[in-house]
Amino acid sequence: MAAKSVCNSRAQAAYAAAALHLGRAFLLADQPDPALDHLQAALDHALPGGLQPHLPLLIQEAERCVALGDHREAIQRWQDIASLLAEATPEPIYHQLSAAYAANCAGFGGSKEENALWGDCSKHDVLAWLHRWLQPALYLEIGVDQGVSLACASGPAIGVDPRPELKLTAELLPTARIVASSSDAFFANQAAALLQPAPELAFIDGMHLFEFALRDLLNTERVMAPWGLVVIDDIYPCHPVQAHRRRRSSSWTGDVWKLVPILRQQRPDLTLLCLNAHTTGLLLIAGLDADAAAAGNASLAAAYPDLVRHWRPIEEPPAEVLARQGAIPSSHPLVVELLQSLIQARQQHWSTPELRKALAPLQPRIAAAEQEHAGRALELSQQPCVLADPAAV
Ligand SMILES: C[S@@+](CC[C@H](N)C(=O)[O-])C[C@H]1O[C@@H](n2cnc3c(N)ncnc32)[C@H](O)[C@@H]1O
Repeated sequence: MAAKSVCNSRAQAAYAAAALHLGRAFLLADQPDPALDHLQAALDHALPGGLQPHLPLLIQEAERCVALGDHREAIQRWQDIASLLAEATPEPIYHQLSAAYAANCAGFGGSKEENALWGDCSKHDVLAWLHRWLQPALYLEIGVDQGVSLACASGPAIGVDPRPELKLTAELLPTARIVASSSDAFFANQAAALLQPAPELAFIDGMHLFEFALRDLLNTERVMAPWGLVVIDDIYPCHPVQAHRRRRSSSWTGDVWKLVPILRQQRPDLTLLCLNAHTTGLLLIAGLDADAAAAGNASLAAAYPDLVRHWRPIEEPPAEVLARQGAIPSSHPLVVELLQSLIQARQQHWSTPELRKALAPLQPRIAAAEQEHAGRALELSQQPCVLADPAAV
């Protein structure tokens, strides 16, 4: 048995070394796609010493793109580094990514079809509406960009974004604060001190790679109030090209769509509502369990490494994702019922089990609504969007 495991670890190390050499060779041959795959394979096979000793080469190649004025490719290269280093990505890598975005005048290309966007209510309208309903004691946002979603907050809000200088186009309330940090570093270093009281509404819209969004969700669940609502953007790419991990179109969801099947499989304890929102759908998540998440015993946290390895190589979103199978209209009465349950839970200070008990009868009705709207998402997007005013209900 022991001899077998020595053999296995030798084989692992040999594979990792070979993959590393190939990765470096492809990088030097200016072939970043296979380079990324091989470097990732090296890491997946427990590359001794990790990627740290090879970081200078990755940085040098990204800087070469900057020096050549190819900022679009530089964006990919900095993002590749973040994708390889995951939560260990140093903040300066994000600063370089931000600088490359700022310098890129060439856009990201893609045809009209590849950049098409659709859906019913605008995601920012839905977000502002959720704020009106929930009036959260604290709102947490991952990914601020120009501040349009942060400006939807009507009360205390914290937005997290690693870009040192954001070009805000929206006017923020004085109760909104921006923390210049990647979400991983924020959760590791600042969240405990800054997230008081516990957030009651969170919007995850940072790095558009599914494992980053998944970590954001895992970390966010640990800090949320039991009656909190987490909203995830970009679950429905409108074209397969929008879902590529390396960005090839102006409209870009990355592979965040993978969160829906992952959560459906791994977290049946959560209440999930997929909305047919414009531009690329929204996922609402309720029934959060901060205590279990903080104790690290949530099944999702335990499964995270295997999930990342399984889902990362999947490039194309399946047809049912592109058709928004499972989405319900943003204005569906079930959304209001969910919000009312969350409000009642806050008023009566329910625990997670108490809230989940109240949400349980919604589950079969959500499944029925998903069935009822299956195959009609595009058609239903043409209809006017009317979100029920909290004062009128
Ligand atoms: C799509 S934009 C956010 C748009 C904004 N939420 C809105 O709707 O108006 C994505 C933002 O995520 C930020 N971002 C990228 N990686 C991140 C990370 N690791 N942590 C937090 N934010 C990140 C980017 O700098 C960018 O500003």
